[in-house]
Amino acid sequence: MNKIFIVANWKMNPSTIQEAKFLFDSVLEGIEEIKKVEIVVCPPFIYIPLLQEKDNIKLGAQNAFFEQKGAFTGEISSTMLKNLGCSYVIIGHSERRKIQEEINEVIAKKVKAVLEAGLKPILCIEDVSQLKYSLGDITEEELNNLILAYEPVFAIGTGKPCSIEKAKEMREMIEKELHKSIPILYGGSVNSTNAQPYIKEAGFQGLLIGGASLNSLEFLKIVKSISD
Ligand code: PGA
Repeated sequence: MNKIFIVANWKMNPSTIQEAKFLFDSVLEGIEEIKKVEIVVCPPFIYIPLLQEKDNIKLGAQNAFFEQKGAFTGEISSTMLKNLGCSYVIIGHSERRKIQEEINEVIAKKVKAVLEAGLKPILCIEDVSQLKYSLGDITEEELNNLILAYEPVFAIGTGKPCSIEKAKEMREMIEKELHKSIPILYGGSVNSTNAQPYIKEAGFQGLLIGGASLNSLEFLKIVKSISD
């Protein structure tokens, strides 16, 4: 069986370094026995240097700029993230598409920059057209280092997850468009009671978890429900 990815997207949480360390350490403690699941924690940028990747827990960022260095006030590059010990970067999350007005062309440049720095992009899409335009001129080889996350906007942070049937249908459509097998995750209102069928029935290779990743007990329950 392929490795399952469970990605924790902390978004703009928590408010203190102490809470961030506590949350990370609580997850770390709880996953000692877990095998075959790659846990990726994506905290706000400023907490990344304080947390450490281990064999069974990797670090990701929630965004990165499309250039590697230079006069870009307020931006963070993939190279910087790589040098801090990150392995993944979420790109094109629907909140950034909407609030920061990130368009597909910008997202495609960001995907490329993440790959150039030697990190893996976790590209979020809500439909097949976003997939096509967010990939830009990515090569077949680069595609091997990409992870996709299907995240329907209606399900994000709403407590209204996508039905398993619809999610499965979308996963199949995405796979057809790609002509290639790469990990596709589901994200949107995942919790410990609804997580398992996205993997076991809808065939996703992992989950992208927002709200439920801020509670270590709930997050660990999700991880355990997948690894059982
Ligand atoms: P949610 O967020 O789990 O809180 O719905 C998912 C996401 O935004 O990636």
